[in-house]
Amino acid sequence: MSAYLKSTPDANGYFGDYGGAMLPPPLEPHFKEIREAYQTISKSADFIRELRYIRRHFQGRPTPVSHFRNLSEICGGAQIYAKREDLNHTGAHKLNHCMAEGLLAKFMGKTKLMAETGAGQHGVALATAAAYFGMECEIHMGEIDIAKEAPNVTRMKLLGAQVVPVSFGGRSLKEAVDSCFGSYLEQADTALFAIGSVVGPHPFPMMVRNFQHVVGVEAREQFMEMTGELPDMVAACVGGGSNAMGLFSGFIDDDVALYGVEPHGTSSNLGDHAATITYGHDGDIHGFRTLVLTDEAGEPAPVHTVASGLDYPGVGPEHAHLHKTGRVTYTSADDKEALKAFYALSRHEGIIPALESAHAVGFAMREAANHPGKSILINLSGRGDKDIDYVVDTFGLGEGL
Ligand SMILES: Cc1ncc(COP(=O)(O)O)c(C=O)c1O
Repeated sequence: MSAYLKSTPDANGYFGDYGGAMLPPPLEPHFKEIREAYQTISKSADFIRELRYIRRHFQGRPTPVSHFRNLSEICGGAQIYAKREDLNHTGAHKLNHCMAEGLLAKFMGKTKLMAETGAGQHGVALATAAAYFGMECEIHMGEIDIAKEAPNVTRMKLLGAQVVPVSFGGRSLKEAVDSCFGSYLEQADTALFAIGSVVGPHPFPMMVRNFQHVVGVEAREQFMEMTGELPDMVAACVGGGSNAMGLFSGFIDDDVALYGVEPHGTSSNLGDHAATITYGHDGDIHGFRTLVLTDEAGEPAPVHTVASGLDYPGVGPEHAHLHKTGRVTYTSADDKEALKAFYALSRHEGIIPALESAHAVGFAMREAANHPGKSILINLSGRGDKDIDYVVDTFGLGEGL
């Protein structure tokens, strides 16, 4: 593991000024138990062996890196490559941390996995982990996302999960986290709240990043093997930030430019986007310190993006820190760019991307022309099967783009 990863966060879970664990007293012993269990298993040869076995024989890792030759030619300039997390079992990077969280829960003697979900990918991945480990599963999901991501709701149910619809507030990802925390408080003795990104109280931002690190390690090795050199630019979409931290962590000590792509939604007005790093301020959300989009009353603001999995008014504390240190450049792609990329990748490369991942594709398409002779490696964090009904019903088949 790199020097950066070993030394970050500090013992209290702080990435510079961000992170930590601000917990209601009844949850403190439970998070202490999770921290201690993670410390133990992360050094256990048995845990590492079993996780490697699962990744290879159940998830289908390693996923490949693909060169998007057609898209590169159309855009002109840089060559575009992608780490294919859409080919990970269940269709997104989320299974990387879910299988590890399931293994952690098993080690802790828990009988239930529970979590929030936005696009439903974390919910599907956790329901899969629960089925694999023979555990119960409870997934909280906003009503707006339930309507938008119907195929994933059906998948979760088929996998045996109980899907709890969240009907208060913005009925989206933030409220799903609120709802899940409430339910977890009542069953923390027997359940693990397997948070779905590099967010939440310590140790989740560190733990989820470390479980996603495999993406960056594989991608670095595969890209070097394909091209004989490191990529010039590495980019990923940022919701909470887990697929981005997975990929970035493989290149963090290298002389490689890293870009986080936030969802710019429909405009720069508060409520029309979820570009937390671009427009947010220091604040607390869901038990940790980070950048937050807030309303006039200082409460987390309503957010919008076409991609349910990016619909969060906070961001992982490590991203807030990497923004502050300047190691990662944070930029954004709006709904239109993401949709254009969604159609373009489908038509020219034969890959229907998740709307979340389409933000990273949109960034690469925009930047390629400005960087002739360079290479851009993006994280194709998930496949778009879950999105096709919503996209086609709302925006059509993309003719004329
Ligand atoms: C395919 C895909 N990519 C990205 C994300 C965003 O999450 P994160 O920023 O934690 O990678 C999601 C969330 O649901 C997702 O489903």
